[in-house]
Amino acid sequence: MTGRAAYWAEEAASLTAPWGGINMAWAAVDRHVAAGQGERVALRWIGRDGAVRAMTYAELADASGRFAAVLRGMGVQPREVVATLLPRLPALYVAALGAVKAGCVYAPLFAAFGPEPVRLRLSLAKARLVVTTAALWARKGTAEVPALMVDEGWGERLAAVEPLPCARTTADDPALLHFTSGTTGAPKGALHGHGAIVAQHATARTALGLRAGDVYWCTADPGWVTGTVYGIFAPLAAGATLVADEGDFDPARWYALMERERVVVWYTTPTAIRLLMRSGTELARRYDLSSLRHLASVGEPLNAEAVTWGREAFGHPFHDTWWQTETGAIMLATPPGEPVIPGTLGFTVPGIEADVWGEPGGVRELVLRLPWPSLFQGYLNDAERTRACFADGWYRSGDLATRDPDGRFRFVGRVDDIIKTSGHLVGPFEVESVLLEHPAVAEAGVIGKPDVVAGELVKAFIALKPGFAPSEDLTRDLIAHARRRLGPALAPREVAFADALPHTRSGKILRRLLKARELGLPEGDLSTLESGGR
Ligand code: WT7
Repeated sequence: MTGRAAYWAEEAASLTAPWGGINMAWAAVDRHVAAGQGERVALRWIGRDGAVRAMTYAELADASGRFAAVLRGMGVQPREVVATLLPRLPALYVAALGAVKAGCVYAPLFAAFGPEPVRLRLSLAKARLVVTTAALWARKGTAEVPALMVDEGWGERLAAVEPLPCARTTADDPALLHFTSGTTGAPKGALHGHGAIVAQHATARTALGLRAGDVYWCTADPGWVTGTVYGIFAPLAAGATLVADEGDFDPARWYALMERERVVVWYTTPTAIRLLMRSGTELARRYDLSSLRHLASVGEPLNAEAVTWGREAFGHPFHDTWWQTETGAIMLATPPGEPVIPGTLGFTVPGIEADVWGEPGGVRELVLRLPWPSLFQGYLNDAERTRACFADGWYRSGDLATRDPDGRFRFVGRVDDIIKTSGHLVGPFEVESVLLEHPAVAEAGVIGKPDVVAGELVKAFIALKPGFAPSEDLTRDLIAHARRRLGPALAPREVAFADALPHTRSGKILRRLLKARELGLPEGDLSTLESGGR
C-alpha cells in the first residue's frame, strides 16, 4: 500500500460503523452519541431576531432518525433523491442528516434560486421529495415534485414516529448530489458516496484545524456545496459545535455573534471578507474576538489585502483553502501553524497529490492524483462530461495554477467561461437560455465582469431582434425578466447591447472575446483564451 492509500485506510477505519460500512450521518452524529458524547452541543442556531436554539448531538441524532422514519413512512426509498430548498433553519440540518440516514441522496438547492433553476435541478435529479417552506415553495415551486413544508406540522410529524436507525450503507452508496455549472449545457449533478465523509472529516482537522468541542462557524449558504460539506457534515464528524446564523450579512451582527458564541474556527469567503474590510478595522476591534484561533477562506481568489487585513482586525491572517464540488473536500490549504504567504493557496492536504500540467511558463492545469475518498462518483446521467474530467490516472480540475519551489500552489484562473460571483459558480449557458426567452432577444452572451467585492458579476451582452432598439427601459425589463426566472443569484446585474455577437466557426458565442473587449485586452491573442468547454 502506498503512503496515501494507508493514510486513507486508517482514516476510513476511524469512521467505520458497527455494520462494517460507512454512513455519513452515522459518522457525523450517531457515532459521537455511541461514544458517550451525546450531551455535547452540535448546533447553536441563532434566529434573525436573536433567538437561540441549541441541539445536542443526541437530540440531532434523534431528530434526524425521526425524519428518516418520516421519509420511510412516505414511501421514500434508499437511493431516491431528497432535496431541500430552505433558508438556514434548524430543520435544514435535520433534513440533510435524516435523508442521508435513510440511505437517500441529499440534494441542497440555493434558496436564492428562482423558479427556473429550481425546476431544472429537481427535474435533472428526478427528486422524489423536496423539503421547503410554504413561502419559498409558493414562489419557486413546481407541481412536478411533492413538497414537505417545515413550517406546516413539522414538529408533529417528527413526534409521531420512532427514530429510524442509520441505513447500513457502504462507502460507495450515493449520499450527496450537488449541482455545479458547466460552460455549455445543463447544470451537472455531481454525486458523492458516503465514503466522502472520510476526506471531509480528515480535512476538517488537517486543513481547518478543528478539534472536538471547538465552536465553529461556516458562513457559506447551506444551498451550496461548502454549506453542506463544511457547514454540516465535516465539522460534525470532527465533533465541533456549529454556529448557524439565520440573519443576513451585517458586520456588527457578525462580530457580536463571534464574540457571544466564542467562535474558535471561522470559515468564510473572500467576498464576505472584502465586505467586512469596507466596514473598517475599527468596528472589528470593538469586539472581544480573542476566542478565534483559525481563520480560513474558500471559493474565489483571496487577495493579499484581505489576508493581511485579517491580521490587523483579528490578529490572525486568513488561510486560503482550495477545492471544488467534484473533489468533495479541501485539496489544497495553508494549514494552521503554517505561515501564510499572500497570493498562494498553500500545500496539498495529507493524502492528496497534486501537480500542474502544461508547458513550463505556459498555461498549466491543476491536476490531482486518483483516487481519494471524496472524489465525485460522476455527473448524474452524463458519462461523457464525467470522462472529460479524467486523464491517465489524474483528475483534471479545469483550474490554471502554478507551483512554487517550496510546494505551495498559486491559483491563476479557470480554463473555461464559468463565472464566479460571490464565491458561487454561475454557468453562462443557463443565464443565456433564460435571456433568449425574452421576445426582444436574438442572441445573448454572458460573462463574468471583474468586481471589487463579488470578484465577478454577471454581465450579459445582447443582440436584439429586428424591430427592437436599445433603451434603459428595455435594460430594466431584461434584468427584471432574468430575476423573475433565475432569481438574484444568477440574474445579470449589467446588460450591454451589441449589433451582433462574435462567434466561433462552429457558431458558438465567443464569450472570451466579449470578455477581452470588456477588459480592454487585445483581441488578437485568443488562442489561449479558447474555451475548454467542460
Ligand atoms: C471553483 C470550484 C469552494 C469550494 C466549493 C465550491 C474556485 C475554489 C478557490 C480559492 C481561487 C478558488 C476554483 C474552483 N475556487 N477555491 N481558494 N482560490 N479560486 O466549489 O462551486 O465547484 O467551485 O472555485 O475556480 O474550480 P465550486
